[in-house]
Amino acid sequence: MFFKQKQDKQWLQAFTEAEVVINIHDASVLQKMEMTHLTETDLKRLKSLQPLIVKNMDLLVESFYSTILQFNHLRRIIEKYSTIDRLRLTLKQYVNDLFKAEINQAYLEKRFAIAKTHYRIGLQPAWYMGAYQNLHNTIIHLIYSEMKDTAEFHATLVAVNKIISFEQQIVLE
Ligand code: HEM
Repeated sequence: MFFKQKQDKQWLQAFTEAEVVINIHDASVLQKMEMTHLTETDLKRLKSLQPLIVKNMDLLVESFYSTILQFNHLRRIIEKYSTIDRLRLTLKQYVNDLFKAEINQAYLEKRFAIAKTHYRIGLQPAWYMGAYQNLHNTIIHLIYSEMKDTAEFHATLVAVNKIISFEQQIVLE
């Protein structure tokens, strides 16, 4: 019980102190944010998760690639255009940015670059979505294992779902 309360207090403090940025001028992107109801409060929740995500980054990345590599056509794309070692680094950077809570032009440019790269290498949206679900599952598992307050857990999952949906709307457009 003591630990439960202590953890909950830590989340609350991290949430209260989290600094976030939303600086977007593109009307179509703003509409996507509105549609998903992605707010500053959600970004504060995501930012407060960043230390947990960083601590478990290796687990996230290993789980992601061990799943992808089970599919021969995805493995072939990776071997043709890159290496697992290089992609591990890009994914770490990507996941870190997801919880940085800074949605600005630089953030969008990175997403447009991801979209272009995947289009160039012929990665179909269905496989991108499938791979993303793996990342999503691990993130949910991590939050569940740490966050004890049910209401906070729910609000945090909703925030994670919103940012992932927003990301996918931009990258898969
Ligand atoms: C490149 C993220 C799924 C294969 C990248 C880059 C990022 C990224 C950030 C660097 C983009 C750039 O700036 O050029 C993601 C995310 C995914 C995902 C978030 C899903 C959650 C996949 C899957 C494959 C894949 C399923 C399987 C084939 C590649 C390859 C590159 C790449 C080969 C490098 C291409 C090159 O350098 O020429 N990805 N990726 N990605 N991705 Fe993905």
